Amino acid sequence: MTIQWYPGHMAKAKRLAIEKLSMVDIVVELIDARIPQSSRNPVIDEIIGSKRRVIALNKADLADPVATREWVQTFQSQGHAAIAIDAQHQKGIRQLKELIRKEMAPVFEEQAAKGILSKNIRLMILGIPNVGKSTLINRFVGKNQAITGNKPGVTKAQRWLKIDRDFELLDTPGILWPKFEDQTIGMKLAITGAIKDDLLHMDDLALWLLEYLLERQPERIFERYRIKAAEIEQMTHPEVLLLMTERMNFGDDYDAFSERMIHDYRKGILGQYTLDEPVGEQTAGEVDGE
Ligand code: G4P
Repeated sequence: MTIQWYPGHMAKAKRLAIEKLSMVDIVVELIDARIPQSSRNPVIDEIIGSKRRVIALNKADLADPVATREWVQTFQSQGHAAIAIDAQHQKGIRQLKELIRKEMAPVFEEQAAKGILSKNIRLMILGIPNVGKSTLINRFVGKNQAITGNKPGVTKAQRWLKIDRDFELLDTPGILWPKFEDQTIGMKLAITGAIKDDLLHMDDLALWLLEYLLERQPERIFERYRIKAAEIEQMTHPEVLLLMTERMNFGDDYDAFSERMIHDYRKGILGQYTLDEPVGEQTAGEVDGE
């Protein structure tokens, strides 16, 4: 889903998210592992407030595993529970549930001490468009979906999806907006598919990506797009893009070729790249399968 964000729209999204948050015990802040910084909502802390949260870095299959570990570690060092997952391929889902239970354990212990019986953990998923919120809801629910009915007193019908023996998940995620003001962040959001393609020119995206990849792993570019290091030595990046366009039989249609290149990146064909440089140290665990 792609959404155009305007101030009124953002204010409404924020209000809706806060409304939903009031119904849950814990929130999964879902971000894109390729852009762990750029895919976070700019006012997320204000929106979530003191509510418990787990940060899940989704699409870990497309990101650089070393960078992902460093990002997980960074969030952990900031005091957050964090985990890398790959919702599409059902990886890390069990571990995410365990992490949510772990985060909620002190609350239930406190309640048990007061004689209050523990109840289901109510949770919701929150994030910017296209980070995989619907995919994660589907993975959470799996085949054993059971709907526990509408919550009284809520204006719009909210369904709770029963998961395992101890979870209830809101059936619709909270959708927030990304940070737009910064040109580089905008570029990264567009390249990963978080914002509408036609907001930025495909060739601008391809040029940005080309420069990024040539600096890091040029062999991938050479091999995939049939060019050689020696022949592009004296060329500008737009000239290299044109050369690749020709070599890939797109004639002089560099717009169409640019689209192909972005598609290749999004599908992981160019390899696993994280576009936000990690700032932490590398110690956290890998993404594990179910
Ligand atoms: P949203 O609700 O947050 O908007 O996201 P949604 O679940 O619709 O997922 C957006 C796209 O991301 C989908 O691809 C989905 O398959 C893909 N996706 C979700 N989780 C993962 C993951 O862990 N790894 C990978 N590789 N992909 C994931 P799509 O329907 O093909 O859309 P698009 O790629 O054309 O945007």
